[in-house]
Amino acid sequence: MTKRFILIMMALLPAFAAGAYETISTANNTMVLEAQQGRNLYFWYYGPSLGEKDLEALAGSGLQRQVAYPFHGNEAYKEDALSVVMPDGQLGLNLVVKEVRRTAWEDGELLEITCNDDIYPFEVKSVYKSYFKENIIETWTEITNAGKKPVTLTRFDSGYLPIHVGDVWISSQYGAWGNEGRILTQPLCRDMVSIKSKYGTRVASRTRSEVMIGLDGKPQENTGRVIGAALCWTGNYELRFDTDNDNFHHFFAGINPDNSAYTLAPRETFVTPALALSYSVEGLGGVSRNFHRWGRNYKVHNGQKERMILLNSWEGVHLAIKQPLMESMMKDLADLGGELFVMDDGWFASEKYNRDKANAALGDWGVDARKLPDGVQHLTDVAAQNGIKFGIWIEPEMVNCRSELFEKHPDWVVKYQGREPVYGRGGTQTVLDLSNPAVQDYVFKVFDDVMSLSKDIAYIKWDCNEDIRMDGSQYLKNQQHLYIEFTRGLLNVLQRIRAKYPDVVIQDCSSGGARVSYGIMPYFDEFWTSDQTSAQQRIFIQWGTSYFYPACAMACHISASPDLHSAMPAPLKLRVDVASSGRLGVELQPSAMTVEERKFVKDAIQTYKSIRPIVQQGDLYRLVSPYDGLGLASLMYCTPEKDKAVFYWWKIDHHINQHLTRVCLAGLDPERSYKITELNPLPGAKPLCYEGKSFTGHFLMETGVEFPIGDKKPWQSFMLLLEAQ
Ligand code: DGJ
Repeated sequence: MTKRFILIMMALLPAFAAGAYETISTANNTMVLEAQQGRNLYFWYYGPSLGEKDLEALAGSGLQRQVAYPFHGNEAYKEDALSVVMPDGQLGLNLVVKEVRRTAWEDGELLEITCNDDIYPFEVKSVYKSYFKENIIETWTEITNAGKKPVTLTRFDSGYLPIHVGDVWISSQYGAWGNEGRILTQPLCRDMVSIKSKYGTRVASRTRSEVMIGLDGKPQENTGRVIGAALCWTGNYELRFDTDNDNFHHFFAGINPDNSAYTLAPRETFVTPALALSYSVEGLGGVSRNFHRWGRNYKVHNGQKERMILLNSWEGVHLAIKQPLMESMMKDLADLGGELFVMDDGWFASEKYNRDKANAALGDWGVDARKLPDGVQHLTDVAAQNGIKFGIWIEPEMVNCRSELFEKHPDWVVKYQGREPVYGRGGTQTVLDLSNPAVQDYVFKVFDDVMSLSKDIAYIKWDCNEDIRMDGSQYLKNQQHLYIEFTRGLLNVLQRIRAKYPDVVIQDCSSGGARVSYGIMPYFDEFWTSDQTSAQQRIFIQWGTSYFYPACAMACHISASPDLHSAMPAPLKLRVDVASSGRLGVELQPSAMTVEERKFVKDAIQTYKSIRPIVQQGDLYRLVSPYDGLGLASLMYCTPEKDKAVFYWWKIDHHINQHLTRVCLAGLDPERSYKITELNPLPGAKPLCYEGKSFTGHFLMETGVEFPIGDKKPWQSFMLLLEAQ
């Protein structure tokens, strides 16, 4: 062997031998990077766990490595994760490995690889954190200006993943108000696919910052290799797939840099939000279960706590809050077996402005004595007398120009200098500038003051009904920093709130589900899935939302028929069965229900209490997708021990002589027998043929179940409890 040949081989393969390969692992997955001092950091592999032998063979396997965090420089025509304007105006970087650190934490490892530029005083740390049990790897980037002059970041992604070309598909969520979480599944072809938001506040309204990546064609529910990715940020974001002329789909995810270049002061470090990744060979469902477990264990506030069954006043009374009405609703809820009453919008006022319409008083958080003469303490007392808890609605980051707050602090609103604000809801609503510490203090105080209206407030519904329409701050010097500083300001307030109020349940509401992300859920126990409460439409909305979020966090309420927004009638049983697949609640005026309807809902609440741990903490298996056009949708939750499961079956269209597919269950133990009991049966209905009988997990999963459907019975539904014998 010539010396030259040996040198070439060393340049190509030596990293494993030299111990320069760094792995980060979870129970089922491994990610491999190459970190050689003085060289660029490379990504080699992300997939099923690799043993020592596989790792040794990796370098000679023909796999192509990619720069692990693509920076602008050397191949400037390529898409970047990081681009920077240096103080001298230069754009090109060359980041080389300086240091590798590895530390353990209770559920995994933290791998930190620091690179610096070979010319400029500029440092980039790529961090990888494994959640071993949950099969999640988080990655984020810490960018430090070690020089004496400011540098400008024009692109600063959290992370990057190269995905080898093949039959690769992505499944993301799109939507609109009342129609959130719709699934869009598409093959990755040439060119760029960008999933992004620029709304500033309601960033999950039209798209969401999560995506499923199917490596074996159109992703399937329970089979095939799928990667899930969630950007943990509640501000503007962009997820992009670049497919150019090489062997990879290049996936980038981070803060959306549009109108948001970040100037990094000398010695300042910019920490990007985390990008959470999960790889599963059990299809979309496998990835969802990983994210749900991770969410419940770490990323949804109090994610392992049982959620209360609540009645929210909004669809029942809207803004017409009145003390006697609140009292009677609380009594009705207690009679139904509910556990928490939430007084929604309409309860507050100032001397000058009241909240009879949704166009005034936001910002003036005094109790409206005309509506609630005895105050909030009285209401919490009444709740206690009824054996239930009490919650209240706020929208603290917002203001109406028809408010005393606006008159006092016009400088607190987000708007361009010298221009009049542009208003949204009610023609009067706009956003307070959370980049301003004085506004942060004010928002914290709103929460704090509301909590002090009674010592017994157990729940806050935090709403957010406006976007940033004019991205101007009257506080910041650098206007490009608004989106980032606004989001940081919001997070700062939420941290302060959680430090003082760790146990109060807080709902993340934003005209429905317009602000759900793993960037905000660490502070919230749940989110309002959608203002759309039509059972037929909720099946689609909840299906998409369940891709990444666990049932315990998804607020799902039984509303009136026809519901407020779609005007689509639905049988009570369907409404109950659909709402019972998430965190159950009620969103109507109970006094408008018939005696029979009350009895049915009361029984269903009792039933839900008995299955609550299975639904809220169990493993989700989606069985038949409403998006597949088969006329039905079906899913189930199973305990991790596989001893109990709850199965749901919803008919989603209605034709004479309709023929429907059998549904094969999943997640059960094939060897065990499961006794079946129908839940929420219709009064007087003939028992199902399965009732009280036992079937093996093998039979239920391989042969499946079918249900009698009546041509005169639209929108039928069934719920079954399965108990291992
Ligand atoms: C929008 C929310 O999504 C509704 O549930 C309700 O709270 C209204 N805002 C109140 O204004």
